[in-house]
Amino acid sequence: MFDQSQFVWMDGGIVAWKDATVHVSAHGLHYGTGVFEGIRCYDTPLGPAVFRLDAHLERFFASGSVYGLRMPFTAAELTDAVCEMIRRNGFRSCYIRPIYYYGSSNLGLFPDKCPIHVSILAWPWASYHGTAALDDGVSVTMSSWTKFHSRMMPTTAKACGQYLNSILAAREAVGDGYDEALLLDQSGNLCEGAGENIFLVKDGKLITNGDQHSILMGITRSSMITIARDLGLTVGPHRLNMKRGLAGRDVRFRIVECFFTRLRLVSIALLILVVVRVSEAQTTHATLGTLKVAFDTQQGQKGPQAANVRKE
Ligand SMILES: Cc1ncc(COP(=O)(O)O)c(C=O)c1O
Repeated sequence: MFDQSQFVWMDGGIVAWKDATVHVSAHGLHYGTGVFEGIRCYDTPLGPAVFRLDAHLERFFASGSVYGLRMPFTAAELTDAVCEMIRRNGFRSCYIRPIYYYGSSNLGLFPDKCPIHVSILAWPWASYHGTAALDDGVSVTMSSWTKFHSRMMPTTAKACGQYLNSILAAREAVGDGYDEALLLDQSGNLCEGAGENIFLVKDGKLITNGDQHSILMGITRSSMITIARDLGLTVGPHRLNMKRGLAGRDVRFRIVECFFTRLRLVSIALLILVVVRVSEAQTTHATLGTLKVAFDTQQGQKGPQAANVRKE
């Protein structure tokens, strides 16, 4: 996966991939005390274009501040560093992973003395669930793991250690033969996938949950809402209460059409992963929905203007 990546940006300098190492005593390694972003760069007629880099960096800084991580670089410096990474590695399109974390000094739970390190990785990663999923959709199963409440950990922060919850859910789902896991909160409300937000389609309207729920506020989610409204669709944050449907013995909760949003595209469009199968008892056989087609068409027409295009 990393074969084509030659350089890594580390603490303001550029090093060879093989030299981008971290000491085994780093606080972030032991406790997951770091935050990161997952950003896409697309190959466009104007050159490689990073999708909504400003929004990603804003969330990056916000995630870190929750954990007391003081970012030593400005957003402008990180913007230049991201572009430099794409350029130096010679990528036309890639996935970009900035991260900052507490380094090595002590391993107490209060990491006050630990230095803060910042790195930016980039590598080609066409699609997280494989390129076939872009056309065929993904299968999902309800996880037996509960999504942690935002008062347990800040779900709006994209923090390293917080992903253990997603990893448990994803491992379980894949072990059971599904592509992805769907997590409920303690009250039975549908939260999100292990690594993506979810939208349901009901009576021609889009429904998704909002910041009062325990979800990561996805950048793709917000773009999706904007595009949907531009298309004249009704879309609103909503509590996705699946409790009755799931608790009832013979009740099937029927999702006629739903999709995940996450940034992992092959071309210039928001990725919508259509969910084609929900686990056995709650089966749905959604086809690639009409809304997906509408979005694809809209994006095709709009092209990169919809994104925050940065030329090489
Ligand atoms: C838990 C979770 N929810 C939602 C998302 C989607 O976020 P975004 O659209 O900003 O990529 C992600 C992305 O990695 C995620 O990990």
